Amino acid sequence: MSDKKAQLTVDGIDGVIEMPVLSGTLGPDVVDVSSLTGKGLFTYDPGFVSTAACESKITYIDGAKGVLLHRGYPIEQLAEKSDYLETCYLLMNGELPNAEQKKQYVDSIMNHTMVHESLVNFFKGFRYDAHPMAMMCGVVGALASFYHDSLDITDPEHRKVSADRLIAKMPTLAAMCYKHSKGQPFMYPDNSLSYAENFLHMMFGTPCEPSKIDPVVAKAMDVIFLLHADHEQNASTSTVRLAGSSGANPFACISSGIAALWGPAHGGANEAVLNMLREIGDESRIGEFVKRAKDKNDPFRLMGFGHRVYKNFDPRSRVMQGIADEVLSAMGAENDPLLKIAKKLEKIALEDEYFVEKKLYPNVDFYSGIIMKAIGIPTDMFTVIFATGRTAGWIAHWNEMISNPYKIGRPRQLYTGYTARDYVPLEER
Ligand code: CMC
Repeated sequence: MSDKKAQLTVDGIDGVIEMPVLSGTLGPDVVDVSSLTGKGLFTYDPGFVSTAACESKITYIDGAKGVLLHRGYPIEQLAEKSDYLETCYLLMNGELPNAEQKKQYVDSIMNHTMVHESLVNFFKGFRYDAHPMAMMCGVVGALASFYHDSLDITDPEHRKVSADRLIAKMPTLAAMCYKHSKGQPFMYPDNSLSYAENFLHMMFGTPCEPSKIDPVVAKAMDVIFLLHADHEQNASTSTVRLAGSSGANPFACISSGIAALWGPAHGGANEAVLNMLREIGDESRIGEFVKRAKDKNDPFRLMGFGHRVYKNFDPRSRVMQGIADEVLSAMGAENDPLLKIAKKLEKIALEDEYFVEKKLYPNVDFYSGIIMKAIGIPTDMFTVIFATGRTAGWIAHWNEMISNPYKIGRPRQLYTGYTARDYVPLEER
């Protein structure tokens, strides 16, 4: 840590307030404002645009350069050379596993893929057309009711088994959501398959026919999970940390992360991108939609464009674009009209002065929906797939927080409501 200091003078407060400036291994310095409360002051930063809420060693993003590192490893290298479960291990443990560690980890995850049979009754309670994210919020939180034996968050072994259970069971629950909407029987996991293959088997297999899993599709699915695995302190991860800071169990915390992810400004964007491309419908209408996106009086935004942190290409979107080309050609869908609209839209937006000036580039969600559509995954399942991949990051951040000294998260506010006033009896109002 550096011995840099920041100094602040505030009208009405005597003297200069000195605050330590902390330096990480990468990224901007951070002013430690925690002493300000002792001076009767709070900081104000809606949307946390200038606030580091925690210290973390897991993921680093340089938004200006389009860099994303997990435990120091660039996302492009992980997408090309690693796989989802190895990346989960890396996020959780800080280092890549050796061969024996990898085998043990994969065995442990695959050992936990089944869910308690009573969970089937939860699904029976949902309407056939329930949104899968609504079901996921419920059933993931409900997992806590099955594991009283391992919910002591102060015990590292309990935390590890909960993390393994969550990563293992998310694809099973995700596929159950889909099967419920189709009215098809749930498929049990097949642990002889890889993580991504197993998910595809539970999604698309039926008891009548063995699953046929295209290796290109399985690889694409694995990379989709991997590219979504973590993204430092985004809205859902911060939600998981905040929920976890009260001592809540990990299943409840991940359920809160799923809720935060659901919104269209976050994970819900992949579903929104495809809906937008369908609404555009034809390349000739792209100009009209770009115009709307630039109109301050129109709430419409180009979904899949822009990012709070990336002010350059989202490195994940480049990998995603490559996979989109591979999957569509493997499925013989190179001429998919939505892909054509997406490519044209990307080109037009990247050349448009408004998008250039505001540094609005395609984000991870821009191409992921097209790939998932080609695979046959329905639009309302897209955010569930995001949640499945992101569970690794959520649980790694939760575990990092609980493994170190932490305080309950309790932001303050700038109060602008009424000052104290007397209660008015009903008959006098
Ligand atoms: N289309 C048109 N204008 C946009 C867009 C867009 N997609 N994104 C941002 N802008 C404009 C915005 O109107 C604002 O203009 P001005 O400065 O004139 O008011 C400026 O760019 C900055 O936008 P902001 O909303 O202040 O930026 P933010 O950092 O708060 O929002 C964002 C980031 C991702 C919520 C936003 O870019 C957005 O809504 N994008 C579309 C939704 C989307 O694709 N979300 C997925 C994000 S990546 C996946 C994930 O991490 O979950």
